[in-house]
Amino acid sequence: MLGVDFIIGIILWLIILKIIIYITAPSIYKGPESLVGKVVLITGGNRGIGFEVSKELARRGCKLIIACRSDAERARQEIINFSNNENVIVKRVDLKSFKSVRQFASEIHQSEKKVDVLINNAGVGFDTILSEDGLNPVLQANIYSAFLLTHLLIDLLKQSDDGRIIFTSSSFAFANNLTIDNLDAHFPGDDQTVHYSILNYGNSKLAQLISSKIFAKKLWEYGIKSNAIHPGIIYTDIFQAMEGKFGIDLCRGGTRYNRVGNVAKTQEHHRTIFLGL
Ligand SMILES: NC(=O)c1ccc[n+]([C@@H]2O[C@H](COP(=O)([O-])OP(=O)(O)OC[C@H]3O[C@@H](n4cnc5c(N)ncnc54)[C@H](OP(=O)(O)O)[C@@H]3O)[C@@H](O)[C@H]2O)c1
Repeated sequence: MLGVDFIIGIILWLIILKIIIYITAPSIYKGPESLVGKVVLITGGNRGIGFEVSKELARRGCKLIIACRSDAERARQEIINFSNNENVIVKRVDLKSFKSVRQFASEIHQSEKKVDVLINNAGVGFDTILSEDGLNPVLQANIYSAFLLTHLLIDLLKQSDDGRIIFTSSSFAFANNLTIDNLDAHFPGDDQTVHYSILNYGNSKLAQLISSKIFAKKLWEYGIKSNAIHPGIIYTDIFQAMEGKFGIDLCRGGTRYNRVGNVAKTQEHHRTIFLGL
């Protein structure tokens, strides 16, 4: 049996470690890499982690295309003000609709000659309503559509001399029960348990890891690198739809201490930026 003192000691040590990491982390990544001349496409760049990543990418001079569902003009203006880069474009896509993803990819083909960096960042933590394609909405947004979008943009990534694909996965990938059958399993909708919804999200994040690896293998010969990251635990809206649902209100990613506005102050969120530079 572990003693109470031992457990308290471990907890105190973890708190101290977190404080040390927080204090010693650089306030912002200061590497010299420039993205001038590059086209970077990020899904979900209008809020949460994607918004902070977008600010830093824009600051490095790329043409930044933000893909999201909602009206993101305010986010776009904030990114322009932060980065002094006017070349920030917002385009609509709904990752819960294959039609929308195909339409979006076709618009990108019309407007761009190449894509240098594709960041599949947008994500859904919890949902109870089947998509318009009749699919599990979390799996469709997080993996089926991210995979489809990447697939539809491969020819534009091949036009880059240093193409990159990045999936914003999660450490939740370890909490999974992913099988081929589960990909097509009955979706309980409003009757989801906490257990089901965590595994469902975890399955989508593991599938992102697997997809990233497959893209990396298949596209290596074209000089395209594919990677997946866990961005850190950050207080965002990712599990907002779950709040109150299971009698718990602490389902957001991270804590208030890790509020997304502090993202630029921690190292963890620089992983996406490192991989894109
Ligand atoms: N927060 C964490 O602690 C954490 C930890 C590990 C991994 N992640 C991953 O990090 C990524 C970003 O999450 P976040 O925490 O920043 O979440 P967030 O604040 O909830 O942001 C989610 C983003 O995804 C977009 N999005 C959601 N549904 C969409 C749809 N159907 N079509 C198009 N865009 C859609 C949203 O755009 P709209 O505003 O248009 O809806 C928003 O920009 C996700 O993939 C998440 O799984 C987060």
